[in-house]
Amino acid sequence: MKILLLGADGQVGFELQRSLAVLGPLKLATRSGTRFGDGDCLTADLGDPDALQALIRAEAPDWIVNAAAYTAVDQAEVEPALAQRINAEALAAIGAAARATRARVLHFSSDYVFAGNATVPWRETDPTAPLGAYGRSKCAGEQALRDSGAEHLILRTAWVFAARGHNFLRTMLRLADTLDRISVVDDQIGSPTTAALIADISAHLLAQLRGAPADDPRFGTYHLTASGQTSWHGFARALLQSAVDAKLLRALPELVAIASADYPTRAARPAWSVLDTHKLQNTFALHLPHWQEGMTTVIRQLADAAARDASPD
Ligand SMILES: NC(=O)c1ccc[n+]([C@@H]2O[C@H](COP(=O)([O-])OP(=O)(O)OC[C@H]3O[C@@H](n4cnc5c(N)ncnc54)[C@H](OP(=O)(O)O)[C@@H]3O)[C@@H](O)[C@H]2O)c1
Repeated sequence: MKILLLGADGQVGFELQRSLAVLGPLKLATRSGTRFGDGDCLTADLGDPDALQALIRAEAPDWIVNAAAYTAVDQAEVEPALAQRINAEALAAIGAAARATRARVLHFSSDYVFAGNATVPWRETDPTAPLGAYGRSKCAGEQALRDSGAEHLILRTAWVFAARGHNFLRTMLRLADTLDRISVVDDQIGSPTTAALIADISAHLLAQLRGAPADDPRFGTYHLTASGQTSWHGFARALLQSAVDAKLLRALPELVAIASADYPTRAARPAWSVLDTHKLQNTFALHLPHWQEGMTTVIRQLADAAARDASPD
């Protein structure tokens, strides 16, 4: 199984480098053509659909895994056309090239395709109603891929974090290092999900679909998050306590629970981001661990790295 990984240096892309490597030859691509660490890397700019399609034709992979995306949620309100180009128009180009070369596509989408006004977990069949430009572009990207006719998997995920990259966990640790008191939103609910879990599940799905016929009913859209749910405030409290326990942080700051209305952002966030993952678990016989397990692992990785950095050798 030959795989082309787009966006290899993002949070999810970086973890996919590890998890997909066991499935067959893996070609990595980033916007710049360089990647963290040494090694070969192709150039794939999602803003350049002609070059993207030429790359897909030249590489002729069995699977294209797209971990690249425009993910700046607030900035997307300022430059919606750019978000649309990267998150939607590029998917039409990828889908068309995939169909022409008989490649399959694994793509990631977001809880932001939903309005966030539910009280039970969102199912794949629930109507989408994005609140902002980022969500609209992700929604359009899903549709562009479906319309292309390429065989595909779309995995909607949420609240992604890892030991590297831009994410809530790392922001909280940075703030806790310097502030005695941090205010965190307590009325948005979701399931914090590690990039590693997304990458591991992605590799399982590709392995299970090896040799699948074009009309295999398992192609389609799924929800993928860790299990359990919490608020941003609950996540902050748990991760900071875990950081103190791991000696990554000296002391707990005071955490103040606030309402979203008291923390205005350019883009509105969904209040309810919990995704129903039963379809994924049942179709592929998978178990999704609780979000606290992934959180503890990432804190331990960061604590180990900090201990190594502090060691005199
Ligand atoms: N982060 C979350 O909480 C979250 C939640 C739900 C869904 N998702 C979805 O999950 C997927 C992975 O997200 P992530 O958290 O790994 O995002 P990320 O860490 O922001 O990584 C996105 C990657 O896309 C690359 N990229 C941006 N514009 C590009 C372009 N024009 N051409 C090529 N590459 C480009 C970025 O490269 P540069 O460094 O060059 O910009 C970056 O490496 C995305 O589809 C995202 O929408 C994420």
